[in-house]
Amino acid sequence: MKFPASFLDEIRARVPVSQVVGRVVQWDRKRSKPGRGDWWACCPFHHEKTPSFHADDRKGFYYCFSCHAKGDIFTFLTEKQGLSFAEAVEQLAAEAGLPVPQPDPAVQRREQRRATLAEVMEMAARFYEEQLAGPAGLHAREYVASRGLSEETVRRFRIGFAPDARDALLRHLEQAEVPRQLMIEAGLVAVPEDGRSAYDRFRNRLMFPIRDMRGRVIAFGGRALGDARAKYLNSPETELFHKSRVLYNIDQARKVAFDSTSVIAVEGYMDVIALVQAGFENVVAPLGTALTEDHLAMLWRMAPEPLLCFDGDAAGISAAWRTLELALPRLAPGHSLRFVLLPEGMDPDDLVRQEGPEAFAALTESAMPLIDLMWKHVLETSPRRTPEERAQLEARLEELAGRIGEERVRGHYRSELRARLRELWRPAMSSGVGRRRASGQREGRFARGAAGHAGRIADVTSRLVSLSRGLSATAVHEKELVRIVLRQPEILDKVAEELAELEFSSQELDSLRRKIIDIAAGHADLDSARLHAHLREAGAGEIVRKLAGTSTTGRHTSLPDLDIAHALESFAERVAILRRTAVLERDLRAAEKAFELEPTEENFARINRIREELHAATDAGN
Ligand code: UTP
Ligand code: MN
Repeated sequence: MKFPASFLDEIRARVPVSQVVGRVVQWDRKRSKPGRGDWWACCPFHHEKTPSFHADDRKGFYYCFSCHAKGDIFTFLTEKQGLSFAEAVEQLAAEAGLPVPQPDPAVQRREQRRATLAEVMEMAARFYEEQLAGPAGLHAREYVASRGLSEETVRRFRIGFAPDARDALLRHLEQAEVPRQLMIEAGLVAVPEDGRSAYDRFRNRLMFPIRDMRGRVIAFGGRALGDARAKYLNSPETELFHKSRVLYNIDQARKVAFDSTSVIAVEGYMDVIALVQAGFENVVAPLGTALTEDHLAMLWRMAPEPLLCFDGDAAGISAAWRTLELALPRLAPGHSLRFVLLPEGMDPDDLVRQEGPEAFAALTESAMPLIDLMWKHVLETSPRRTPEERAQLEARLEELAGRIGEERVRGHYRSELRARLRELWRPAMSSGVGRRRASGQREGRFARGAAGHAGRIADVTSRLVSLSRGLSATAVHEKELVRIVLRQPEILDKVAEELAELEFSSQELDSLRRKIIDIAAGHADLDSARLHAHLREAGAGEIVRKLAGTSTTGRHTSLPDLDIAHALESFAERVAILRRTAVLERDLRAAEKAFELEPTEENFARINRIREELHAATDAGN
């Protein structure tokens, strides 16, 4: 409904913003200056512990310095309390003691139609629910059960069934005297162009009502139960339903997002439903579209760092990347996104059903910050063998950071990316001319496998790309291996040769390994105490202490055979893991080179496959 601007101004003048907002927030007494109409509180639009939400009675508006929520008394009631604009005006006019002017009849008719459309949608939702519960719904109920949905879940999401008939809903609504035109406007009934009679849009489908912020049914999604052409069919755009501005389950998720401090966006209806049933209640999904700007704004109103789930396949990664690009201009201090890439070929529904809620919880905990996705993706898709290629990689990152709208965030991105680049180039540089002499061992290692200088750089950088997880996991196994030997050097008789052939990724450990080999070569029958003494002499006392802890230092007694057998077994296990990792790392380097030459989806998939195997390999035994 359209109200005269002067009337709205009059209400604003009479009702202080602090009065309306103060019913929802707790003012910070220390910072607020009531006398000046200056108020501070923790922001009601996002979760925070220190107040960055400011309300100014003189200007009549509020602003959150952290999430940038802003508006006046009217927007506060519409955005925070879910009132329609007309309802907000009505309530605030009453508060101001002003009579509401007579509305414009044309506008009033439109309002009326929206209200009526919502009523029709509600009637349809009830009809579908009844159909699912009734005799026609037998097959659909079986399907629901086969997907592991409980009765409670069916009720909660108001899941229904559109019968396999041409016009079951149409006839039902006709009996209730709903005009045909309204059914069409609601998107429930369609009229064929060839003049045949009107028919139900949704037939033989499992029905998911889509609700707005206030919980009103504004559209439906229907999943085919038979062999329909589209697996999912959504309501068309109507006066009530604008796909790009609606998220499935938003009304429920909004209620819990403030407590749980985050919100999770997934791809499909079934993912939302399965996750809610598994205990993750703050979950939403777009409706068959990629996330839009409006969606991001909605998510940020719920939480400072919404978590977005994408498929781990090439399509999922490019969808994640598009969302990242959409978000860059809108990043703000303390307000970002995190990304979860799911195991390839699994959606969250599959995951919780096959591996349990803990598996999903673990993934959300290791979600990638936006900057990590940016870094990882750019590194994975930019060659960097020549100086020109490296310059181009830098330019790409610089360009991305430049798209960040907010100055402070942009500055921090720039400096973090520069630091990462320095780190990335550093070993490449030092393996070149400058430090060659100083690090003899390093030189030996690089000289061994790779051909020329370019080969060495590719070697180093791709090791870095294999990124922290692979490397640090390798280091864990290397450490364990050394620990076994330090504790039970008796096994050296049998394993010294094998140990000599290995090559550790950590410099420090590798030098310790060499010392152990040297000592073992010169001394038979080492026990733990003697080995430790020799290592101390060789200047490795410090690292040995770190590795061995205190418990294993001076053991003199000889060991029972059983312990030795056990130590041999653990040693063999760790060696196998390290060997497998080394092979996979070599494959990964080859795959990365192939991708640099030929950046196809297939080559990208190959990289991902090897990465996953690498993770699986290094995770074993931990
Ligand atoms: P998916 O094909 O991944 O389906 O589509 P799903 O969610 O895993 O569903 P199940 O498990 O097979 O039942 C993800 C989302 O894409 C939209 C829907 O919103 C769906 O939830 N979609 C998919 C469509 O709009 N139309 C389609 O034909 C398919
Ligand atoms: Mn699915």
